[in-house]
Amino acid sequence: MSKILVLNGPNLNLLGTRQPEVYGSTTLAMVEANCIAHGEKLGLSVTCHQSNHEGALVDAIHEARTTHAGIVLNAGAYTHTSIALMDAIASAELPVVEVHLSNIHAREAFRHRSYIAPVALGQIAGFGAQGYLMALDALKVHLSESGAE
Ligand code: DQA
Repeated sequence: MSKILVLNGPNLNLLGTRQPEVYGSTTLAMVEANCIAHGEKLGLSVTCHQSNHEGALVDAIHEARTTHAGIVLNAGAYTHTSIALMDAIASAELPVVEVHLSNIHAREAFRHRSYIAPVALGQIAGFGAQGYLMALDALKVHLSESGAE
């Protein structure tokens, strides 16, 4: 069974209580449990990790390179700043689906730029916690079509 890493970046540990009008009321624990359950339905083994630290996220991507078949990544604010994360994804040579709970393109101008998007398979933004499950669906189709599983 293909392993998928669901990786969340800074401040996403506060999901559920953090600006619920923007990010919804689903907690990170619920998001992760839903991803694991949805993965089981798709025949994917989902593992989850969250860090508030850029270097720890880079490390997690490097580790996934040899252990996982793909990554669902919500890099939080590092999306808009981190060349290090962009380089880590490019080096990992793994399919990455970028997820945002909010529609970053309908928000402040500084959120419109993503350093993840150019190295990602695609981006899902604006569908709240459902976006993570959509990302798993997209990865499943990609892995099947590319003959990776
Ligand atoms: C976010 C959008 C980012 O702009 C923001 O910094 C976050 C969360 C989202 O999921 O909508 O932390 O990635």
